[in-house]
Formats: sequence, structure tokens, C-alpha cells
Amino acid sequence: MDKGGKGRILLSVTDWDPEVWRGEFAKVAPGRPVVLAPDHPGDETIRYALVWKQKPGSLANLPNLKAIFSLGAGVDHIFHDPHIPDVPIVRIVSDDLSMRMSEYVVWQVLDHHRLGPRYRRQQQARVWHEDRRQPAANEVTVGILGLGVLGRDAATKLLALGFRVTGWSRRPHEMEGVETFHGKDGLGDFLAGADIIVCLLPLTPETKGILSMSMFARMKQEGPLGAPVLINAGRGGLQNEADILAALDRGLLSAVTLDVFEKEPLPADSPLWAHPKVTVTPHAAASSAPGALVPLIVTQIEAHERGEPLANLVDRNARY
Ligand code: NDP
Ligand code: OXD
Repeated sequence: MDKGGKGRILLSVTDWDPEVWRGEFAKVAPGRPVVLAPDHPGDETIRYALVWKQKPGSLANLPNLKAIFSLGAGVDHIFHDPHIPDVPIVRIVSDDLSMRMSEYVVWQVLDHHRLGPRYRRQQQARVWHEDRRQPAANEVTVGILGLGVLGRDAATKLLALGFRVTGWSRRPHEMEGVETFHGKDGLGDFLAGADIIVCLLPLTPETKGILSMSMFARMKQEGPLGAPVLINAGRGGLQNEADILAALDRGLLSAVTLDVFEKEPLPADSPLWAHPKVTVTPHAAASSAPGALVPLIVTQIEAHERGEPLANLVDRNARY
């Protein structure tokens, strides 16, 4: 039994190399054992679990488990498991992750704003044509769906570039320089005002499939960039890909950037790959960097062991 000393950590990940995370723990907290599986069902030495898409059931029957740490900002991957123990769930909030996501958002917003896709097509065809209808940033409204940790950081950086910024969240929020909307009642006005829509929502029962035709049909149509641009770096389950393709074909959307997909990896036969108005990135907007995140997790575990409260807790009812 391990009742007094440092508890062991269970690292339960799929799709990612666990040894990279284990190696980082060995550097940051050398005395802290990290195991990839319990020694036996009912292993009482495991105190904390670190997870990314854990195998369902892998956290069950650990009688001394104190908390689960998601290795990403999103936690929908945890809730796929019907056997999650009733202990606090902590998610990643880190300057490193926010910086990476904001870089991605700024990159994609600027690419669409500055006609990147069009000029790349022109280059391939050796066409020299400057489009003189380039609007200024302060004529373009970037609307952010999800004004949480990542949405607010991206908003700050877009404001610094001169864009008009709006945000939509579940509950009311204020943010200097940003026009804010919330709830189902606020969505229509938010959509009616945005030229570029950036989705940084979590995937929850309430947000599943929200990026669908019923939303696209409510978006502003004749903005400075024409029909609106959609950028989704939240989760693939937020989007209906058939509706996105139909909205592009009907001209309700002028272009999209997708980092996340209903099915990942994006199947080779998906029409999204070759669509001229679609930019695809492989769920790479903001990767969890072990070197930046492990010290934060170790700090939290040590504080918890001293009896201090955990930060960045997930609301199990809201699922984010
Ligand atoms: P937060 O929990 O800090 O923010 C979530 C935001 O979404 C909040 O503003 C919240 O509203 C809002 N929201 C949640 N549900 C609803 C709803 N039903 N209606 C309206 N607004 C809602 O999360 P983060 O900003 O840290 O991360 C957001 C997501 O980004 C993650 O869940 C993950 O899916 C994704 N992500 C993707 C990555 C990638 O590489 N592609 C990397 C990292 C994260 P309120 O403020 O009122 O609570
Ligand atoms: C995350 C992700 O949720 O990388 O952090 O998708």
C-alpha cells in the first residue's frame, strides 16, 4: 500500500507516444514513478492519471485515484469512456498552448484576409493579378465562437492587428475591445455581424454539430470578403462536413479552414482534401508540448499533495 509517500502516476494515452511524456516526467520529477498500466486491477498505488483518449475502462478500479489530468485543453476525449471514476478532472491551461492556438488563428485569419488561397492558385497558373479590393483589417469583423481561455487570447492578438472582434460564449462575459454575445439568443446577432468565424468551442452535448447548415444560413452574406469564412480549430464533432461542402457550393461560405474533423485522420477519400475552397491541417493548431506542460502538471500534483485545491477543473455537468 502507498498511503503516505508519493503516489504513482498512470499515463493512459492512445495516438501519442507515452515515452515522450514519461521522459519529461523523469526530468522534471525524477522521484515520481509513471506507469503505463496498473500492476493489477484495484492497484492502490496509483494516485493520479494523465490521459489523452484513454482506453475505456482503463481508469476504473483504482481505489486511491485522486484526480485525472487531461493532456489537452479539450476533455471530450475523456468522456467517451463510460467508466470514468468520480474524481476531479483537470484540463490544460497554459501560455504555451494559448500561444500556439493564437498563432494558428492569426495565421489563418490573415491568410484568408490577405487572399492567400487565391494568390496560391494564381501562382500555380502563373497569373499576375493584384486584387485591389483588399479591405483593411478594421473593415473586417472576426467572430470567435467560444470566448474561453483560447478564444480570449486569440481575440487579444487579432485586436492588436486591427481587426474588429466579436465573441460568443455560453454565459455573459465582458472583454475590452470585443463585442460579446452569449447563449442561443445571442447567436443570431453574432452570426449576422461576422466576416470570418473562428470556432474554438469545446465539444459537448450542447455544441455537437453546431457548425451546420442552420448556422451557415444565418451568417452575414455580403461582407468585405464576400460570403463569410469559417475556421474550425475546436473539434471535428462540432461540424457537419456534408453541410460545410453544401454551404461552400451554394456560396453561403466563401472558404473554410479545418484543423479538426468528424473522423481523424481525415479519410483519404474525403472530398475536403481536394476542394479548392478548403484548407486542411492535421489537428495541429495547438499541440500539447510535453516540455511546457509536464512542469505545470507536476506543480499541480505537488500542490494537491500539500492539501491545496486543484486549478482548471472541468465542470462534469457542462462537460468542459
Ligand atoms: P474554455 O473552456 O476555456 O472555453 C470554452 C468556451 O466555449 C467558453 O467561452 C464557453 O462559454 C464556450 N462554450 C461552451 N459551451 C458553449 C455553448 N453551449 N454555447 C456557447 N458557448 C459555449 O476552453 P479553451 O478555450 O481552453 O479550449 C477550447 C477548445 O479548443 C477545447 O475544448 C478543444 O476542443 C479545442 N482545442 C483544439 C486544439 C487543436 O489543436 N485543434 C488544441 C487545444 C484546444 P463560457 O465562457 O460561458 O463558459
Ligand atoms: C487539445 C488538443 O484539446 O490538442 O488540447 O486538441
